[in-house]
Amino acid sequence: MYKKLEYKEAGKFEETRFEKIHNVVFDNSNIASIAVAQEIANLIRTKQADYKKCVLGLATGSSPIKVYEELVRMHEEEGLSFKNVVTFNLDEYYPMTKENTQSYWYFMHEHLFNHVDILPENINVPSGEVKADEVHQFCIDYELKIKEAGGLDFQLLGIGRTGHIGFNEPGSHYNSGTRNITLDHITRIDAATAFLGIDHVPRVAITMGIGTIRKAKRIVLLAWGVNKASVVQETIEGETTADVPATYLQRHENVTFVLDEGASNDLTRVKTPWLVKNCIWTDDLMAKAVVWLSIKLEKSVLKLTDKDYNYHGMSSLLVEQGSAYQMNINMFNRVQHTITGWPGGKPNADDSNRPERNTPAKKRVIIFSPHPDDDVISMGGTFDRLVEQGHEVHVAYQTSGNIAVSDEEALKFAEVSLELNGGASNAAKIIKDLGKKKDYDVDSDGVRGLKGLIRRKESVAATRYVGIPDEQVHFLDLPFYETGTVKKDKLSDKDVQIMCDIIAEIKPHQIYGAGDLADPHGTHKVCLDALFMALAELKKESYMDDCWVWLYRGAWHEWDIHDIEMAVPMSPDQVLKKKQAIFFHQSQKDGVMFQGDDSREFWMRAEERNKETARKYHSLGMADYAAFEAFKRHHY
Ligand code: F6R
Repeated sequence: MYKKLEYKEAGKFEETRFEKIHNVVFDNSNIASIAVAQEIANLIRTKQADYKKCVLGLATGSSPIKVYEELVRMHEEEGLSFKNVVTFNLDEYYPMTKENTQSYWYFMHEHLFNHVDILPENINVPSGEVKADEVHQFCIDYELKIKEAGGLDFQLLGIGRTGHIGFNEPGSHYNSGTRNITLDHITRIDAATAFLGIDHVPRVAITMGIGTIRKAKRIVLLAWGVNKASVVQETIEGETTADVPATYLQRHENVTFVLDEGASNDLTRVKTPWLVKNCIWTDDLMAKAVVWLSIKLEKSVLKLTDKDYNYHGMSSLLVEQGSAYQMNINMFNRVQHTITGWPGGKPNADDSNRPERNTPAKKRVIIFSPHPDDDVISMGGTFDRLVEQGHEVHVAYQTSGNIAVSDEEALKFAEVSLELNGGASNAAKIIKDLGKKKDYDVDSDGVRGLKGLIRRKESVAATRYVGIPDEQVHFLDLPFYETGTVKKDKLSDKDVQIMCDIIAEIKPHQIYGAGDLADPHGTHKVCLDALFMALAELKKESYMDDCWVWLYRGAWHEWDIHDIEMAVPMSPDQVLKKKQAIFFHQSQKDGVMFQGDDSREFWMRAEERNKETARKYHSLGMADYAAFEAFKRHHY
């Protein structure tokens, strides 16, 4: 039996009374994926030794990519053969041709089948090409084929934010079989980036049913990133319900959820460990617990009583600290000391309780911005203060962001340019290229160049507005991003070298970077990796001894209050000025191509988020500010 116990050794596993599904948490999705690939490889080899076929149910999407990469590596380097493997994929969009780069057929060949020795006749993916009146029979045949193959030995799953497994959306029945289904709106929003806009996302898919999946002898579900944290918590700790179809897995006897830290965030044992066990009270855990208690009871920190602590699983903390009184004061001071209107340090002031040093009084600063606009969206107020307080602020845009400019926007600029220049050949060529372009075609070099240029000019308009000279604005155009498609290349030495060069040139005292960990495959995470790799490289240089690194969160999430180490308040006027700076990024306004799961415009999200942080600080008992931008220090 390919057993769960192996994971217990590799990942962190502690069952609590809240949890109804076996799960393990790994430090990151890479090592987790390698462990899962190993389980699959063991199964294939065990079956091979018995001269048996190994029947695998496979998933697509971002979650299993690294598992497939590792299986391919094992095939190439360790001789793992797929000759005895039969595969059945969970689902396919409908209608969908195999050649379409968005089809699951294409995905599976690109990530796995083209690189291993599986026999083509052993590959099964639901067909998006059958005629509408043949779908019903196709689904019956698919079920029969799985049965004839001996049933699924192993089923790999991801989980959607709707709680879907396969494309079994909310409402799916416990005994459902392979069938066609209408996709949930949230699922379509999540797929919109890959399809370059929600209007291109199919409305229907063919999917294996819950009943089909349940019959698998072993099931492993993968979930990465904080975006999945809440649905993972509901699935593992909630009641079985058709509203969250993955909860049906609670009734399967051999299932493991493999999670990274982000996806495990909302599990009770992770979010509020003091409610399930005795804790070792570090300063950070104490801060997390006190902030949680204060928000839960809607009482400021200084009003929390011994009884409040005792009633909420923190009696051991109370014993350790002696009394609520002193602990409250310590916590109040800790949060209070994160607040500063002087993000570059306050000259000639006592800085022993301030987040930043006061020397040198004038600092050289680099703000790294993954896309041309994250600087003002995420830290426009702090950017403004740094400039106002006389620091030498540089902005380095890590990627060109060209893919996020619509064809209509590019055409508008090309036509203006054509009229201005009376038939300039570049503009004419770009207009011709756009005219010929079909859905999913990669942009020509000329079109990409123009789209990148539009974002550059918008950025310069914004940085001029904040008040820095053009020579302090740097466009790095990291090569990993320049594929012309949503799928990006891996980071290479070239990317890291470009990051190192700009840091070495400016020799900053402060670096700001986007610490976005929400999406393990997104551009922000790659840009952060590039920054960390550059820091590791440059650490030995003496000018880095003086350089502090602060991380802001991008457009989607904010740091938890207990994690914040510097909170920069903004007056109502500064909030307005920040909005104005964001407005210069006009190509990213109104129904942008990569809206994500939030339909609000970027300035609205930023404003709401900054106000929300201020509200939370106030409710803890701090002064009542209009808005806050928040940062966490990174020690490298
Ligand atoms: C894919 C599938 C879906 C995905 C789920 C998560 O074949 O059936 O259930 O597993 O939508 O997608 P990612 O991994 O992209 O977050």
